[in-house]
Amino acid sequence: MSTNTQGPTEKSTALVTGSSSGIGRAIALRLSRDGFHVLVHFHQNKKGADDTLSQVEGSGGTGEIVQFNAKESASIEAALTPYKSISVLVNNAGLHIDGLAGLMSDDAFDQVMRTNAYGPFFLMRHCVRQMLRQKKGSIVNISSLAGQTGNPGQMNYSASKAALIAMTKTLSHEVGSRGIRVNAVAPGLIETEMVSDIPAPYLEQMINRIPLKRMGTADEVAGVVSFLCSKDASYITGHTLSVNGGLFPS
Ligand SMILES: NC(=O)c1ccc[n+]([C@@H]2O[C@H](COP(=O)([O-])OP(=O)(O)OC[C@H]3O[C@@H](n4cnc5c(N)ncnc54)[C@H](OP(=O)(O)O)[C@@H]3O)[C@@H](O)[C@H]2O)c1
Repeated sequence: MSTNTQGPTEKSTALVTGSSSGIGRAIALRLSRDGFHVLVHFHQNKKGADDTLSQVEGSGGTGEIVQFNAKESASIEAALTPYKSISVLVNNAGLHIDGLAGLMSDDAFDQVMRTNAYGPFFLMRHCVRQMLRQKKGSIVNISSLAGQTGNPGQMNYSASKAALIAMTKTLSHEVGSRGIRVNAVAPGLIETEMVSDIPAPYLEQMINRIPLKRMGTADEVAGVVSFLCSKDASYITGHTLSVNGGLFPS
């Protein structure tokens, strides 16, 4: 599915999971502007990934599309076999299936943990091997405010995002001496499809509790990811950077 106009060998390659929409798309576009050859990933939304790649190429960048199910390590390994020098991994793909703990099904817990925690684990395991060989690399895991504070109705999601912060810290210890940095970003309420199902009155209450009195944008998260992947962040690893409008100062 390669459509790159410049050879990836001229640029460092960044894989952004879940870049068929929302925050992932904004990150892919931003990293492309930063000079990366971007692997635009989708699971089911091929049209969304095509749109992201068109925007990347439209602004003078290069990229390719990759497809896998983050829940399946075999799917990831097969899709990423052709790519031998990924130097930035952004684990952004995620989903939520909400419900009160007492009513939550095994399947709702399992699906969310597999997508949001197992998936990033499979991807970090794959990519860090390449990064160790290259003796460089940067991984950014998109966690959530819910993983820092917990959130009613999101026991599965909060647990998966807390796990991502713990994995971030653990891997940062394991690979720091080899020049690889591993950080997390914890967005609060960001205006994307993911929050479009929140009932309006509840959304208004949530926004009122945010010191900056608004939702964040996908571009604001992308800017922070860009920083963490840049030389300006060369002494930052194992950190979780909050992007939440001041709701939970950290
Ligand atoms: N929006 C917020 O307020 C907010 C706040 C905190 C954290 N976050 C986190 O930010 C990340 C992006 O969220 P978003 O708001 O941009 O959501 P989104 O627009 O719904 O995007 C979710 C992405 O995850 C991908 N995905 C879902 N299940 C997958 C699977 N099994 N395998 C591979 N990819 C899968 C989707 O791919 P396809 O559509 O191609 O299937 C899509 O690209 C998520 O990790 C989310 O938890 C969001």
